[in-house]
Amino acid sequence: MRRIAIITDDPGWHGKQLCRAFAERGCSAEYVSLTACRLQVNGDALPVLIPGFETRLPDAVFVRGVPGGSLEEVVLYLDILHALKTLGVPVYNDGRAIEASVDKGMTSFLLHNAGLPTPMTWVLRDSDQALAIAEQELSGGHYLISKPLFGSQGEGIRRIEKSTDLMWLTSSHGIYYLQRFVECDGDGYSDVRVFVINGKAVAAMRRRGISWLNNVARGASCETIDLHSEMAELAVKATETLNMDYAGVDIIQDADGRHVVIEVNSVPAWKGLQSVCSLNIAECLVNDLVDRHMNKAGR
Ligand SMILES: Nc1ncnc2c1ncn2[C@@H]1O[C@H](COP(=O)(O)OP(=O)(O)O)[C@@H](O)[C@H]1O
Ligand SMILES: [Mg+2]
Repeated sequence: MRRIAIITDDPGWHGKQLCRAFAERGCSAEYVSLTACRLQVNGDALPVLIPGFETRLPDAVFVRGVPGGSLEEVVLYLDILHALKTLGVPVYNDGRAIEASVDKGMTSFLLHNAGLPTPMTWVLRDSDQALAIAEQELSGGHYLISKPLFGSQGEGIRRIEKSTDLMWLTSSHGIYYLQRFVECDGDGYSDVRVFVINGKAVAAMRRRGISWLNNVARGASCETIDLHSEMAELAVKATETLNMDYAGVDIIQDADGRHVVIEVNSVPAWKGLQSVCSLNIAECLVNDLVDRHMNKAGR
């Protein structure tokens, strides 16, 4: 039987969904934490040691979570993903895709470089420069968003609305990620999460936040929507730009009706989306991994 490693420190609902979907494809799946893996340059031993896979590497790796940590810790976790890929193990999404999207600065640069609409963004170290940018944005009538470079699920995001808020302008681990706030179209606050698998937008929902933060983890509600082709196309292009097998793409329609890409998630949760869509997302992901990467490799 083919054996899959699901990389996660918190299997939960997503882990169960994946295990079930893998079982339907004749694969057994085991949870593995990157914190317990190692590289070993040690004679004939496998160069990547994964608990439970000591004698044979997994037939594929599904990355459901990369833990945070020091720069060195995160580099080791990514090294393990890169090494597995080098050894011919399909890694879904792979280390490069995860690297580019976990780092919000790189995501913004790559989206802009590919000509895709994304908000004006500054990523920098110097606090005087950060203050000057914030003052300039406020005086131009714009709110400013400050995010941790490696943040997720809305954690640590602040909105600077007036000059007295500037005292909240702090760096995250020494780096400022500042972005112009995009006023959304329609009533209240909402954005759209588009789920892309293998170059196709397979599901989407509107996320309606309690305030301007539209993360489901921050209490946003999920609503079914019909996906416009323009938004689907933008989400697919953003996913391709970051070389991802699949992604959760956050898009805001601004007050002028333009679509703007806020984020491209390489390890997106889909519990909220699954609650408003009939397609089984775990099955779609597993089928894509098995059919496109494992069967192709003759595994
Ligand atoms: N530039 C922005 N303009 C308006 N809203 C934003 C902007 N950036 C982020 N948001 C809001 O904050 C949420 C979280 O931001 P995001 O960049 O996706 O980070 P996270 O990785 O924490 O989800 C978005 O879904 C959106 O609702
Ligand atoms: Mg997001």
